[in-house]
Amino acid sequence: MSETTKELVNNDLSDVMFNRHSVRAFDPSVKINRDELQTMISEAATAPSACNLQSWHFVVIDTPEAKEKFKKAVMKFNYPQVDSASAIVFIAGDTQSHLVYRDVWNKVYKAGNITKERLDQILGTFLPLYENATPDFLKFDATIDCSTVGMQLLLVARAHGYDANAFSGIDFEKMIPTLGLDPKRYVPVMGVAIGKAAKEPLHTTRYDSKTQTDFL
Ligand SMILES: Cc1cc2nc3c(=O)[nH]c(=O)nc-3n(C[C@H](O)[C@H](O)[C@H](O)COP(=O)(O)O)c2cc1C
Repeated sequence: MSETTKELVNNDLSDVMFNRHSVRAFDPSVKINRDELQTMISEAATAPSACNLQSWHFVVIDTPEAKEKFKKAVMKFNYPQVDSASAIVFIAGDTQSHLVYRDVWNKVYKAGNITKERLDQILGTFLPLYENATPDFLKFDATIDCSTVGMQLLLVARAHGYDANAFSGIDFEKMIPTLGLDPKRYVPVMGVAIGKAAKEPLHTTRYDSKTQTDFL
C-alpha cells in the first residue's frame, strides 16, 4: 500500500462512518489535487473483490470541460453535485478483468505469500470460472466489486476531510461511451462526487434492521 496515506485527517471510524451523509452541495472553490485523488482511489481499492479480480475502473472528472462532457450522461437532478464537487470519480465495472488475473496472483506468489502449488490451484479453480462465464455473470460480478470499492471511497473521502455523494442517476446507455471507454468491456456503476460540504446535509433515517433481517 505504498501509494496510500500514512496518516488520515480523520481516523475516527465512528465519525467517518456514522456521521457520513450524502452531500450534494460542495464549496466550488475547493480543489483536490490529482495526487490526493489518486491516493484516495488507491486506498479505496484495498476493498475486497470476488477472487481478487478487482473488476473496477475509475474515471476522474475534475475540470469544467470534463464536467460538461460528463453531464451529457447524467440525470439533471444530479447536476448540483456534479457542478459543485471538486471531483467526481466515476466507477465502471471491468468485465474483462480476468484477462490479467494471472498477474494478480503471480505478484502474490513472487512476494512469497503463496506456494507454487497454491498459485496453480487458485488459477486452475477460478480462471475457467471466468473464462467460461456468461456476459451477465461477468457484469454482475464486476458490479458487485464496484459496490465495495464505491463504499470504501465514500468513507476514504471522509477520512481525508471531505464529503461525498454516490450517484447512479445516470444514462446507463450513454455513460460508458461518454467516458471514452469500450461499451463491450465496461459497465457503468456509480459516480462518487467528492468535495468540501457547503452546507449541512440532510440527515436520513433507516428502517429498523430487524424488519429486514432473518436468522436462518
Ligand atoms: C447506488 C446508489 C445510487 C444513488 N444514486 C443517487 C443519485 O442518483 N442522486 C443522489 O442525489 N443520490 C444518490 N444516492 C444517494 C442516496 O440517495 C443516499 O445514500 C440515501 O438517500 C441515504 O442518505 P445518506 O447517504 O445521507 O445516508 C445513491 C446512493 C447509492 C448507494
